[in-house]
Amino acid sequence: MDRNRGVRGDFAAAAQKSVVRARSCRCASECTSVPRRVFLRGMLAGGLAASAAQPGIADDTKPGDDERPQPGDVFVFFEGERQGKIVALAELKHSAAPALVWPMDPKSKVVRDGSRLNQVVLLALDPESLDSNTRSAAPDGVIAYSAICTHAGCTVTGWVQDKGVQVLKCPCHNSEYDPRRGATVVFGPAPRHLAMLPVSIDNGALIVAKSFIGKVGPSTSA
Ligand code: FES
Repeated sequence: MDRNRGVRGDFAAAAQKSVVRARSCRCASECTSVPRRVFLRGMLAGGLAASAAQPGIADDTKPGDDERPQPGDVFVFFEGERQGKIVALAELKHSAAPALVWPMDPKSKVVRDGSRLNQVVLLALDPESLDSNTRSAAPDGVIAYSAICTHAGCTVTGWVQDKGVQVLKCPCHNSEYDPRRGATVVFGPAPRHLAMLPVSIDNGALIVAKSFIGKVGPSTSA
């Protein structure tokens, strides 16, 4: 799988898909804040039943699917040919474009896709390139951040070069975050860094180690 797709590749397409997944988004520019059920009813009333039949947008809420990532959760791909499959460590190549993923309870198999505030970007970087705080939450350089921009809540889908290093980029107003330094803001209007989701490796599997560190999304989000 070519994971060096850049902002215009599949990683960017995820932003559009995230719109229909929205249940609690406060984003002003990318998506509506309409609850998912209401949004789906509106689609059907508008003759968009075919769109509603696409995989992954059925009204299939499950207990726990809107809970924030829990310790022990695994990750599943948000999109692409591996959509819904558990992310294996071997699939994360150093410095390749991030993967957009959801956490999943490995026991109940509930994917926590009931709130887009649970969207996570997962990437692997050279551990030597990380600052000490970031490295402490990134075993073998694998690191996870909230995918929700802290400016207005768009999904951070870009992976671009800035001043010679790759950074995460929000497509809405071009905020950029340095994943090597705790996703600190290096450009644009975002007021603060992305929330970090510490991960660990357990028997070769990548799992959530702790809850998000920092607030997820913009100040108005839940
Ligand atoms: S929502 Fe404005 S920069 Fe991300």
